[in-house]
Amino acid sequence: MKALYFDRHGGPEVLTWGDLPDPDRPQGWVKLRMRAASLNYLDIFTRRGMLGIRVPFPMVTGGDCVGEIVEADGPIGGLGIGDRALINPAHIDDRSGHFEMMGETRPGALAQYVVARPEQLIPIPDTVSDAQAAALPVAYATAWRMLHTRGNLSADDRVLILGASGGVGTAALLIAKACGAHVTAAAGGPEKCARLTKLGADATLDYAAEPIDAYTKRVSGSLFRGGGFDVVVNFTGGDTWVPSLKSVKRGGRLLTCGATAGFDPKTDIRYIFMAEMDIRGSTGFSRADIEACLAAVAAGSWAPAIDAVLPLERAAEGIALLEERRVFGKVVIEGLPA
Ligand SMILES: NC(=O)c1ccc[n+]([C@@H]2O[C@H](COP(=O)([O-])OP(=O)(O)OC[C@H]3O[C@@H](n4cnc5c(N)ncnc54)[C@H](OP(=O)(O)O)[C@@H]3O)[C@@H](O)[C@H]2O)c1
Repeated sequence: MKALYFDRHGGPEVLTWGDLPDPDRPQGWVKLRMRAASLNYLDIFTRRGMLGIRVPFPMVTGGDCVGEIVEADGPIGGLGIGDRALINPAHIDDRSGHFEMMGETRPGALAQYVVARPEQLIPIPDTVSDAQAAALPVAYATAWRMLHTRGNLSADDRVLILGASGGVGTAALLIAKACGAHVTAAAGGPEKCARLTKLGADATLDYAAEPIDAYTKRVSGSLFRGGGFDVVVNFTGGDTWVPSLKSVKRGGRLLTCGATAGFDPKTDIRYIFMAEMDIRGSTGFSRADIEACLAAVAAGSWAPAIDAVLPLERAAEGIALLEERRVFGKVVIEGLPA
Protein backbone atom coordinates (compact mmCIF):
# COMPACT_ATOMS: atom_id res chain seq x y z
CA MET A 1 0.00 0.00 0.00
CA LYS A 2 1.02 3.66 -0.38
CA ALA A 3 1.93 5.42 2.86
CA LEU A 4 3.76 8.42 4.31
CA TYR A 5 6.22 7.02 6.84
CA PHE A 6 9.57 7.54 8.53
CA ASP A 7 12.17 4.97 9.54
CA ARG A 8 14.32 7.20 11.76
CA HIS A 9 13.72 10.35 13.80
CA GLY A 10 14.54 13.75 12.32
CA GLY A 11 13.25 16.69 10.31
CA PRO A 12 10.87 16.69 7.35
CA GLU A 13 13.60 15.02 5.25
CA VAL A 14 13.05 11.65 7.00
CA LEU A 15 9.46 11.41 5.67
CA THR A 16 9.07 8.96 2.80
CA TRP A 17 6.12 8.63 0.47
CA GLY A 18 6.32 5.08 -0.78
CA ASP A 19 5.16 1.46 -0.60
CA LEU A 20 4.79 -0.56 2.59
CA PRO A 21 3.11 -3.94 3.11
CA ASP A 22 -0.54 -3.67 4.18
CA PRO A 23 -0.76 -3.68 8.01
CA ASP A 24 -1.18 -7.10 9.66
CA ARG A 25 -4.67 -7.59 11.02
CA PRO A 26 -4.51 -9.50 14.33
CA GLN A 27 -7.39 -11.93 15.02
CA GLY A 28 -10.50 -9.95 16.01
CA TRP A 29 -9.17 -6.64 14.66
CA VAL A 30 -10.68 -4.66 11.79
CA LYS A 31 -9.00 -3.49 8.57
CA LEU A 32 -10.18 -0.17 7.13
CA ARG A 33 -9.50 1.76 3.95
CA MET A 34 -8.49 5.27 4.97
CA ARG A 35 -11.10 7.76 3.69
CA ALA A 36 -9.93 10.89 5.53
CA ALA A 37 -7.21 11.76 8.02
CA SER A 38 -6.13 14.97 9.71
CA LEU A 39 -2.77 16.33 10.84
CA ASN A 40 -1.63 17.41 14.28
CA TYR A 41 1.50 18.86 15.85
CA LEU A 42 1.79 15.46 17.55
CA ASP A 43 2.81 14.02 14.15
CA ILE A 44 5.77 16.41 14.10
CA PHE A 45 6.80 15.72 17.71
CA THR A 46 6.62 11.97 17.05
CA ARG A 47 8.72 12.25 13.88
CA ARG A 48 11.32 14.36 15.72
CA GLY A 49 11.33 11.92 18.67
CA MET A 50 9.99 12.47 22.19
CA LEU A 51 11.70 11.60 25.45
CA GLY A 52 10.35 8.31 26.86
CA ILE A 53 8.36 7.26 23.79
CA ARG A 54 9.79 4.40 21.75
CA VAL A 55 8.53 4.56 18.20
CA PRO A 56 8.70 1.30 16.22
CA PHE A 57 9.97 1.80 12.64
CA PRO A 58 8.83 2.15 9.98
CA MET A 59 6.13 4.40 11.50
CA VAL A 60 3.22 5.49 9.34
CA THR A 61 2.55 8.99 10.56
CA GLY A 62 -0.82 10.49 11.57
CA GLY A 63 -3.33 9.81 14.35
CA ASP A 64 -6.76 10.97 13.18
CA CYS A 65 -8.56 8.67 10.77
CA VAL A 66 -11.95 7.93 9.26
CA GLY A 67 -12.00 4.60 7.47
CA GLU A 68 -14.27 2.26 5.59
CA ILE A 69 -14.37 -1.26 7.01
CA VAL A 70 -12.96 -3.73 4.48
CA GLU A 71 -12.19 -6.77 6.66
CA ALA A 72 -13.54 -7.92 10.03
CA ASP A 73 -14.22 -11.20 11.83
CA GLY A 74 -17.85 -10.41 12.56
CA PRO A 75 -20.28 -7.57 13.24
CA ILE A 76 -18.70 -4.72 15.23
CA GLY A 77 -21.19 -2.91 17.41
CA GLY A 78 -23.70 -2.49 14.60
CA LEU A 79 -21.04 -1.69 11.99
CA GLY A 80 -20.19 -4.00 9.10
CA ILE A 81 -18.17 -4.29 5.89
CA GLY A 82 -18.52 -1.12 3.79
CA ASP A 83 -19.53 1.09 6.73
CA ARG A 84 -17.47 4.13 7.66
CA ALA A 85 -16.20 4.74 11.19
CA LEU A 86 -14.10 7.23 13.10
CA ILE A 87 -11.17 5.58 14.86
CA ASN A 88 -10.33 6.52 18.43
CA PRO A 89 -6.55 6.74 17.88
CA ALA A 90 -5.71 6.15 21.55
CA HIS A 91 -6.17 2.77 23.14
CA ILE A 92 -5.52 1.81 26.76
CA ASP A 93 -5.43 -1.89 27.52
CA ASP A 94 -7.75 -2.39 30.52
CA ARG A 95 -5.67 -5.22 31.97
CA SER A 96 -2.11 -3.92 31.56
CA GLY A 97 -2.74 -0.17 31.44
CA HIS A 98 -0.52 -0.19 28.34
CA PHE A 99 -1.15 2.89 26.16
CA GLU A 100 -1.08 2.81 22.39
CA MET A 101 -1.51 5.70 19.97
CA MET A 102 -1.87 5.52 16.20
CA GLY A 103 0.98 7.28 14.45
CA GLU A 104 3.10 7.06 17.62
CA THR A 105 3.33 3.48 18.87
CA ARG A 106 0.99 1.85 16.28
CA PRO A 107 0.96 2.41 12.51
CA GLY A 108 -0.97 5.59 11.77
CA ALA A 109 -3.49 7.13 9.42
CA LEU A 110 -1.51 8.43 6.42
CA ALA A 111 -1.76 5.22 4.43
CA GLN A 112 -4.22 3.41 2.20
CA TYR A 113 -5.11 0.94 4.96
CA VAL A 114 -5.14 0.92 8.77
CA VAL A 115 -6.08 -1.69 11.37
CA ALA A 116 -7.82 -1.06 14.70
CA ARG A 117 -9.45 -2.93 17.54
CA PRO A 118 -13.26 -3.07 17.21
CA GLU A 119 -13.64 -1.03 20.41
CA GLN A 120 -11.72 1.84 18.79
CA LEU A 121 -14.42 2.31 16.13
CA ILE A 122 -17.01 5.05 16.59
CA PRO A 123 -20.05 5.35 14.29
CA ILE A 124 -20.31 8.71 12.49
CA PRO A 125 -23.69 10.47 12.31
CA ASP A 126 -24.93 10.79 8.69
CA THR A 127 -24.79 14.60 8.80
CA VAL A 128 -21.08 14.66 9.70
CA SER A 129 -18.70 14.47 6.72
CA ASP A 130 -15.56 12.33 6.58
CA ALA A 131 -13.39 15.48 6.72
CA GLN A 132 -15.26 16.88 9.74
CA ALA A 133 -15.08 13.59 11.65
CA ALA A 134 -11.38 13.13 10.85
CA ALA A 135 -10.65 16.61 12.23
CA LEU A 136 -12.06 15.76 15.65
CA PRO A 137 -10.17 13.27 17.84
CA VAL A 138 -6.73 14.71 18.63
CA ALA A 139 -7.50 18.44 18.38
CA TYR A 140 -11.20 18.81 19.24
CA ALA A 141 -11.60 16.01 21.77
CA THR A 142 -8.42 17.24 23.50
CA ALA A 143 -9.81 20.79 23.59
CA TRP A 144 -13.16 19.46 24.81
CA ARG A 145 -11.49 17.55 27.63
CA MET A 146 -9.29 20.52 28.57
CA LEU A 147 -12.19 23.02 28.64
CA HIS A 148 -15.11 20.92 29.85
CA THR A 149 -13.98 17.64 31.41
CA ARG A 150 -10.99 19.18 33.21
CA GLY A 151 -11.60 22.93 32.99
CA ASN A 152 -15.26 23.20 34.11
CA LEU A 153 -15.81 26.00 31.62
CA SER A 154 -18.99 28.03 32.09
CA ALA A 155 -20.83 30.73 30.16
CA ASP A 156 -19.67 33.29 32.75
CA ASP A 157 -15.99 32.74 32.01
CA ARG A 158 -13.82 35.20 30.16
CA VAL A 159 -11.26 33.06 28.34
CA LEU A 160 -7.90 33.85 26.75
CA ILE A 161 -6.66 31.23 24.26
CA LEU A 162 -3.03 31.34 23.09
CA GLY A 163 -2.09 29.64 19.81
CA ALA A 164 -5.76 30.05 18.89
CA SER A 165 -5.05 29.75 15.16
CA GLY A 166 -3.93 26.09 15.33
CA GLY A 167 -5.88 22.85 15.50
CA VAL A 168 -6.40 22.72 19.28
CA GLY A 169 -6.67 26.53 19.36
CA THR A 170 -9.52 26.88 16.85
CA ALA A 171 -11.19 23.91 18.53
CA ALA A 172 -10.95 25.62 21.92
CA LEU A 173 -12.40 28.83 20.43
CA LEU A 174 -15.40 27.07 18.87
CA ILE A 175 -16.10 24.92 21.93
CA ALA A 176 -15.80 27.86 24.34
CA LYS A 177 -18.07 30.05 22.20
CA ALA A 178 -20.67 27.28 21.98
CA CYS A 179 -20.62 27.18 25.80
CA GLY A 180 -21.39 30.91 25.89
CA ALA A 181 -18.04 32.08 27.25
CA HIS A 182 -16.43 35.38 26.23
CA VAL A 183 -13.34 34.47 24.18
CA THR A 184 -10.19 36.44 23.44
CA ALA A 185 -8.25 34.54 20.78
CA ALA A 186 -4.52 35.18 20.56
CA ALA A 187 -2.33 34.39 17.58
CA GLY A 188 0.75 35.57 15.74
CA GLY A 189 -0.12 38.16 13.09
CA PRO A 190 -3.06 40.32 11.97
CA GLU A 191 -4.25 37.89 9.27
CA LYS A 192 -4.71 35.04 11.74
CA CYS A 193 -6.45 37.45 14.14
CA ALA A 194 -8.85 38.57 11.40
CA ARG A 195 -9.73 34.93 10.68
CA LEU A 196 -10.27 34.30 14.40
CA THR A 197 -12.75 37.17 14.51
CA LYS A 198 -14.60 35.61 11.57
CA LEU A 199 -14.66 32.31 13.43
CA GLY A 200 -16.41 33.95 16.38
CA ALA A 201 -13.78 35.41 18.72
CA ASP A 202 -15.10 38.33 20.77
CA ALA A 203 -11.64 39.93 20.83
CA THR A 204 -8.22 39.08 19.46
CA LEU A 205 -4.63 39.64 20.52
CA ASP A 206 -1.77 39.65 18.04
CA TYR A 207 1.04 38.57 20.36
CA ALA A 208 3.62 39.30 17.70
CA ALA A 209 2.67 42.98 18.19
CA GLU A 210 1.87 43.22 21.92
CA PRO A 211 3.10 41.17 24.91
CA ILE A 212 0.44 38.90 26.39
CA ASP A 213 0.61 40.28 29.95
CA ALA A 214 0.66 43.91 28.74
CA TYR A 215 -2.48 43.22 26.70
CA THR A 216 -4.22 41.61 29.71
CA LYS A 217 -3.43 44.64 31.87
CA ARG A 218 -4.54 47.06 29.14
CA VAL A 219 -7.94 45.43 28.57
CA SER A 220 -8.80 44.24 32.09
CA GLY A 221 -6.76 46.35 34.48
CA SER A 222 -4.21 45.45 37.14
CA LEU A 223 -4.31 41.92 38.60
CA PHE A 224 -4.43 43.60 42.02
CA ARG A 225 -7.67 45.38 41.08
CA GLY A 226 -9.62 42.45 39.65
CA GLY A 227 -7.92 42.29 36.25
CA GLY A 228 -7.05 39.14 34.30
CA PHE A 229 -8.98 36.31 32.64
CA ASP A 230 -11.02 33.63 34.42
CA VAL A 231 -9.42 31.02 32.18
CA VAL A 232 -6.15 31.14 30.24
CA VAL A 233 -5.50 28.31 27.77
CA ASN A 234 -1.82 27.74 27.15
CA PHE A 235 -0.49 24.70 25.22
CA THR A 236 2.52 26.65 23.92
CA GLY A 237 4.73 26.80 27.02
CA GLY A 238 8.19 28.28 26.49
CA ASP A 239 8.35 32.06 26.69
CA THR A 240 4.55 32.35 26.89
CA TRP A 241 4.32 30.62 30.29
CA VAL A 242 5.12 33.49 32.66
CA PRO A 243 3.06 36.07 30.70
CA SER A 244 0.20 33.56 30.94
CA LEU A 245 0.56 33.29 34.71
CA LYS A 246 0.40 37.08 34.75
CA SER A 247 -2.90 36.98 32.84
CA VAL A 248 -4.94 34.79 35.20
CA LYS A 249 -7.47 36.57 37.39
CA ARG A 250 -7.52 35.91 41.13
CA GLY A 251 -9.15 32.48 41.61
CA GLY A 252 -8.86 31.69 37.89
CA ARG A 253 -7.60 28.64 35.98
CA LEU A 254 -4.63 28.10 33.70
CA LEU A 255 -5.35 25.14 31.42
CA THR A 256 -2.59 23.32 29.57
CA CYS A 257 -2.40 20.30 27.28
CA GLY A 258 0.90 20.87 25.52
CA ALA A 259 4.23 22.65 25.24
CA THR A 260 4.89 23.42 21.58
CA ALA A 261 7.56 26.03 22.31
CA GLY A 262 9.19 24.32 25.31
CA PHE A 263 8.23 22.10 28.27
CA ASP A 264 10.62 23.47 30.88
CA PRO A 265 10.04 27.23 30.88
CA LYS A 266 10.98 29.69 33.59
CA THR A 267 8.12 30.14 36.02
CA ASP A 268 7.09 32.75 38.60
CA ILE A 269 5.60 31.10 41.65
CA ARG A 270 4.45 34.43 43.12
CA TYR A 271 1.66 34.76 40.55
CA ILE A 272 0.44 31.21 41.27
CA PHE A 273 -0.02 31.73 45.00
CA MET A 274 -0.96 35.41 44.93
CA ALA A 275 -3.77 34.77 42.46
CA GLU A 276 -4.75 31.46 44.16
CA MET A 277 -5.04 30.08 40.65
CA ASP A 278 -5.53 26.48 39.59
CA ILE A 279 -3.12 25.13 36.99
CA ARG A 280 -4.93 22.21 35.40
CA GLY A 281 -3.27 19.74 33.07
CA SER A 282 -5.29 17.80 30.55
CA THR A 283 -4.08 15.13 28.21
CA GLY A 284 -5.65 13.28 25.35
CA PHE A 285 -9.30 12.37 25.37
CA SER A 286 -11.69 9.57 26.15
CA ARG A 287 -14.16 8.00 23.75
CA ALA A 288 -16.82 10.09 25.52
CA ASP A 289 -14.90 13.30 24.66
CA ILE A 290 -14.80 12.28 20.96
CA GLU A 291 -18.50 11.34 20.98
CA ALA A 292 -19.37 14.70 22.57
CA CYS A 293 -17.59 16.47 19.70
CA LEU A 294 -19.31 14.30 17.06
CA ALA A 295 -22.68 15.06 18.68
CA ALA A 296 -21.95 18.81 18.72
CA VAL A 297 -21.07 18.81 15.00
CA ALA A 298 -24.12 16.65 14.17
CA ALA A 299 -26.32 19.11 16.10
CA GLY A 300 -24.88 22.06 14.17
CA SER A 301 -23.42 23.59 17.32
CA TRP A 302 -20.15 24.22 15.49
CA ALA A 303 -18.19 22.83 12.54
CA PRO A 304 -14.46 22.16 12.72
CA ALA A 305 -12.29 24.82 11.10
CA ILE A 306 -10.66 23.13 8.11
CA ASP A 307 -8.01 25.17 6.32
CA ALA A 308 -6.87 22.81 3.59
CA VAL A 309 -7.82 19.45 2.14
CA LEU A 310 -4.99 17.62 0.39
CA PRO A 311 -4.77 14.22 -1.28
CA LEU A 312 -2.77 11.52 0.53
CA GLU A 313 0.20 11.78 -1.84
CA ARG A 314 0.59 15.47 -0.80
CA ALA A 315 0.31 14.90 2.96
CA ALA A 316 3.93 15.97 3.54
CA GLU A 317 2.99 19.43 2.22
CA GLY A 318 0.30 19.59 4.88
CA ILE A 319 2.78 18.70 7.61
CA ALA A 320 5.02 21.54 6.39
CA LEU A 321 2.09 23.96 6.77
CA LEU A 322 1.89 23.06 10.49
CA GLU A 323 5.63 23.03 11.05
CA GLU A 324 6.03 26.47 9.43
CA ARG A 325 3.03 27.92 11.33
CA ARG A 326 1.20 28.61 8.06
CA VAL A 327 -1.97 26.80 9.07
CA PHE A 328 -5.29 28.05 10.38
CA GLY A 329 -7.28 25.26 12.00
CA LYS A 330 -6.93 21.78 10.59
CA VAL A 331 -5.37 20.19 7.53
CA VAL A 332 -7.38 17.21 6.29
CA ILE A 333 -5.91 14.48 4.07
CA GLU A 334 -8.14 12.55 1.68
CA GLY A 335 -7.60 8.83 1.19
CA LEU A 336 -6.84 7.31 -2.21
CA PRO A 337 -9.94 6.19 -4.15
CA ALA A 338 -11.03 2.57 -3.55
N1 LIG B 1 -1.68 16.39 25.57
C1 LIG B 1 -2.38 16.01 24.52
O1 LIG B 1 -3.04 14.99 24.54
C2 LIG B 1 -2.38 16.88 23.29
C3 LIG B 1 -3.30 16.65 22.27
C4 LIG B 1 -3.30 17.51 21.16
C5 LIG B 1 -2.36 18.53 21.08
N2 LIG B 1 -1.47 18.68 22.07
C6 LIG B 1 -0.46 19.74 21.99
O2 LIG B 1 -1.10 20.97 21.72
C7 LIG B 1 -0.22 21.79 20.95
C8 LIG B 1 -0.95 22.31 19.72
O3 LIG B 1 -1.19 21.24 18.83
P1 LIG B 1 -1.89 21.50 17.42
O4 LIG B 1 -1.98 20.20 16.74
O5 LIG B 1 -3.08 22.35 17.60
O6 LIG B 1 -0.76 22.37 16.68
P2 LIG B 1 -0.92 23.46 15.52
O7 LIG B 1 -2.19 23.20 14.77
O8 LIG B 1 0.36 23.49 14.80
O9 LIG B 1 -1.13 24.82 16.35
C9 LIG B 1 -0.17 25.31 17.21
C10 LIG B 1 -0.31 26.83 17.25
O10 LIG B 1 0.55 27.29 18.28
C11 LIG B 1 1.12 28.52 17.88
N3 LIG B 1 2.55 28.54 18.26
C12 LIG B 1 3.08 29.32 19.21
N4 LIG B 1 4.38 29.07 19.35
C13 LIG B 1 4.69 28.12 18.46
C14 LIG B 1 5.90 27.46 18.12
N5 LIG B 1 7.06 27.73 18.74
N6 LIG B 1 5.87 26.51 17.14
C15 LIG B 1 4.71 26.23 16.51
N7 LIG B 1 3.53 26.83 16.79
C16 LIG B 1 3.53 27.77 17.76
C17 LIG B 1 0.92 28.67 16.38
O11 LIG B 1 0.10 29.82 16.17
P3 LIG B 1 0.75 31.25 15.88
O12 LIG B 1 1.67 31.11 14.71
O13 LIG B 1 -0.46 32.07 15.60
O14 LIG B 1 1.46 31.63 17.16
C18 LIG B 1 0.12 27.44 15.96
O15 LIG B 1 -1.04 27.79 15.20
C19 LIG B 1 1.00 20.94 20.65
O16 LIG B 1 2.01 21.22 21.60
C20 LIG B 1 0.49 19.53 20.82
O17 LIG B 1 1.50 18.61 21.14
C21 LIG B 1 -1.46 17.88 23.17
